[in-house]
Amino acid sequence: MTKRKKQRVDKILVHMGIGTRKEVKKLVKSGRVMVNQEQISDPGLHIDPQLDQIMVDGEPLHYREYIYLMLNKPAGIISATEDRFAKVVVDLLSPEFQHFAPFPVGRLDKDTEGLLLLTNDGALAHQLLSPKKLVPKTYYAKIAGKVTEAEVELFHQGVTLEDGYKTMPGQLKILTAGDRQSEIELTIYEGKFHQVKRMFAAVGKKVLYLKRIAMGPLHLDPSLALGEYRELTSEEVQLLKK
Ligand code: URA
Repeated sequence: MTKRKKQRVDKILVHMGIGTRKEVKKLVKSGRVMVNQEQISDPGLHIDPQLDQIMVDGEPLHYREYIYLMLNKPAGIISATEDRFAKVVVDLLSPEFQHFAPFPVGRLDKDTEGLLLLTNDGALAHQLLSPKKLVPKTYYAKIAGKVTEAEVELFHQGVTLEDGYKTMPGQLKILTAGDRQSEIELTIYEGKFHQVKRMFAAVGKKVLYLKRIAMGPLHLDPSLALGEYRELTSEEVQLLKK
């Protein structure tokens, strides 16, 4: 349960993207904001945004502190909030979401596609990224050459990466296996740098295409085209917090 605390009304309006601090002050002073059906004029008035009802120009404001977005990340974009040279995942969001200052929960490589969670809920991000939580991450990949049952077994035991680190067991499922190319799904419970690519490199194979399709209880929504995103449902948020 989050602790309830009163906040300045102008701060709440800025948080909700109504305007800059200066703009919302003006808005309040000009009588366009109501709290619990009463017109207010003091931008410094302290209220409880969860309990008190705020209206701006007669429209109720649906307050929330956190946002949770599922993005289908395209290749070519960096999993970060800013970068001096390249486009980052936050650039794909509309200003309506950007003002909540969301950040990606973990990273996908620049050339990896698929499920990326963005939120401004630091506690949840911390929980999902904690190695102790063993949050499963499932990837779909195209691999050069034929993936074999022997490799399924090796991944099941954990493979030793080029730096000597032995991974935790991963579940490898072969979807198709041709001499030139295979399709697989791999579930891993940790998130080492380039882990999937390095696990295949450890058995002498190259990942040609990589897409994350699930993270914990979240599955990539098939209706999201590359670059599209949507808010998580409250059920999805509850599942993630479990
Ligand atoms: N493993 C990788 O190699 N790359 C990713 O982007 C995610 C997992």
